[in-house]
Amino acid sequence: QHKVIFDTDPGVDDALALYYLVRHPQVDLLGVTTVFGNAPVAMTTRNARFLLQAWGHDAPVHCGAAGPMTPDMPPEFWPTHIHGDNGLGNHPTPEAPVEGPETAAQFLIDTIRAHPGEVRVLAVGRMTNLARAVQMAPDIAGLVRDVVIMGGAFRVPGNITPAAEANIWGDPLAADVVFGADWPVIAVPLDLTTRTFMDSATLADLGARGGAGMQLVADLSQGYVGFYQAAGYDGMLVHDCTAAVYLTDPDLFTLTQGEVRVLSEGIALGLTLMNPADRQGPLGAWEGRPRQSATLDGQPDAILARIAQVC
Ligand code: BDR
Ligand code: CA
Repeated sequence: QHKVIFDTDPGVDDALALYYLVRHPQVDLLGVTTVFGNAPVAMTTRNARFLLQAWGHDAPVHCGAAGPMTPDMPPEFWPTHIHGDNGLGNHPTPEAPVEGPETAAQFLIDTIRAHPGEVRVLAVGRMTNLARAVQMAPDIAGLVRDVVIMGGAFRVPGNITPAAEANIWGDPLAADVVFGADWPVIAVPLDLTTRTFMDSATLADLGARGGAGMQLVADLSQGYVGFYQAAGYDGMLVHDCTAAVYLTDPDLFTLTQGEVRVLSEGIALGLTLMNPADRQGPLGAWEGRPRQSATLDGQPDAILARIAQVC
């Protein structure tokens, strides 16, 4: 069993990832921590609770950061054109948004300490909660099994700016803290997730034969699919669920090891930079942790097949 804490900003592709975790027989979902990103944290928290309740799962949901720790960030923007006004593609969510109390970082700390060497954190939003947790309790770095994040763009352009992917851009300092802590971080970046594209027919088929739980995911994904359709693609990128598959099927991914740093100011704000482990040098000023890696390549078709199998 994989003991997993899911740190998320649902979020349409977050919803599919959460469903994958809930459905997977080898995943023990210990809890969900929420963060601002695809929508304000009051909404992402409400959305996480709504989804788990709809699927009959009793994992606790802990509200996290409402904004970035990076100083002087540009004003936050909510990608309503992608994830809808409510973060779930405008699918009706009965409860009102709920903000606070902010217990996410403490939940991460307590849960990691309670299961030394076992907990796997899957973070698919801004990394603010994780950064706070490891700043509050540096010992958790030595206690966690690993930290898997969806984020970054190493050899491809970003999706917010030419430099930056959304989860990193939204709080680059937090991402640099996470990559800079002494725990293994595996980034699942745009390099791979822009190749895990689920077409509309597959999504519809999964919804039809997967029961009410998957039908909910298919329904709330319609607006997100519309966003891709406007750009000429019939389907959707399943960024966050690709990272979830890494937890259970690492063999479908090709890891590149290296020290990772994040630019937290300037025009390339949010750029993820890797100094590969097999590179000689560097000669200039550079400091990074040697245990980090990114899945720069993998088997997109097999990853998509795995998602279809589990969901
Ligand atoms: C990431 O940004 C969010 O919009 C998605 O949920 C995903 O986590 C992709 O860049
Ligand atoms: Ca997300």
